[in-house]
Amino acid sequence: MPPRKIIIDTDPGQDDAVAILLALASPEEIDVIAITCVAGNVPLDLTSKNARIICELAGKGNVPVFAGSDRPMGRALVTAEHVHGKTGLDGPDLPDPLMPLEDGHAVDYIIEQLRAHAPGTVTLCPIGPLTNIATALQKAPDIAERIAEIVLMGGAYFEVGNITPTAEFNIYVDPEAADIVFKSGVPIVVMPLDVTHKALVTRARNDAFRAIGTPVGTAVAQMTDFFERFDKEKYGSDGAPLHDPCVTAYLIRPDLFTGRHINVEIETQSALTLGMTVADWWGVTERAPNALFIGDLDADGFFSLLTERLARL
Ligand code: BDR
Ligand code: CA
Repeated sequence: MPPRKIIIDTDPGQDDAVAILLALASPEEIDVIAITCVAGNVPLDLTSKNARIICELAGKGNVPVFAGSDRPMGRALVTAEHVHGKTGLDGPDLPDPLMPLEDGHAVDYIIEQLRAHAPGTVTLCPIGPLTNIATALQKAPDIAERIAEIVLMGGAYFEVGNITPTAEFNIYVDPEAADIVFKSGVPIVVMPLDVTHKALVTRARNDAFRAIGTPVGTAVAQMTDFFERFDKEKYGSDGAPLHDPCVTAYLIRPDLFTGRHINVEIETQSALTLGMTVADWWGVTERAPNALFIGDLDADGFFSLLTERLARL
C-alpha cells in the first residue's frame, strides 16, 4: 500500500512535537504533505515556529509549514502555557529554525490540496483546536466529500475534561469549530482523553527514549520530562500523557486501538459545560453515529512503536 497522504494541523506543544516526529519517521506508512499551524497551546507565532523547530530536529527541513488561524472562530484565544511552558516546547534547548514559513494561509492551502488531490486520498490530522479545519469546511464546503478521513485528538467521555471539569482543551478552545467538524459528514476518528490518559510516559519509557542516544531521543526525553510535571501534580499519574501521538500511531498501527462508532456532539451554549463532547458511548439516543471514538490502546505496543520509529530519525 502506498503511504497515506496527510496534513497535520497542529499547535506544538511537546506532545504535538512527538506526534510530528513519529509521522516524519514513518515514510512507509505516512506521507506528510504539509504541516499547518493554529493558535492553541501557545499563540500562532510560537506554534508556527515550533513546528519548524521539530521538522529541523527530524532532519526534514523540506516539509512545508504554513501558519493559519491566530484565534478561534468566534472567541478569544485560551492558551496552555501552564502545561507546555512559555515557549510551548519547554524542556530541551533547541535552535531557532532556519527554514522559512511558506507563503499563504494554512486554510487556503488545505482547500487547495484537497481540490488538487483525487477525492478520498488526503487525511487530515488535527491535533490542536479545530479552527483551521472548520474554517476550510466553511469557506469551501465542496472539500468535505474529498477528505479521506479526519483523525483528531480532542474530547473526552469517561475522563470528562482537563481544561474545565467537562471539557478537553482542543475542543474547549474553539467549540464552534469542533461543532462544524463533527457535523460535516466526514468520517472521523477521535482520540479523546479516555485513551490518551492511558498513553503515559513512565520512567522506564522515558529512559527508553533517552537511551536511543540521538538528538531526537534526547529531546523527546527532555520534552516529556518537562510535560509530565503537570499531570503528575494534577492526576497523580505515572508520567506525561502522549495525547497527540495517538493520532499518528493510529495511522501506522490501527490495531493498537479499540473504540466504538457512536454519535458525538459538541456543547456550544452552556457556560457550565462549554466544549463538552457529548458522546453517546452507551447508545442511549437515536442520534446517528458520526465518529469512531477510541477508548483504549495497547500502551506497551504504542511505546515500542514510538521508540523504534524515533530511533530512525
Ligand atoms: C490536547 O491539548 C494540548 O494541550 C495537547 O497538545 C493536546 O493536543 C490535550 O488536551
Ligand atoms: Ca496539541
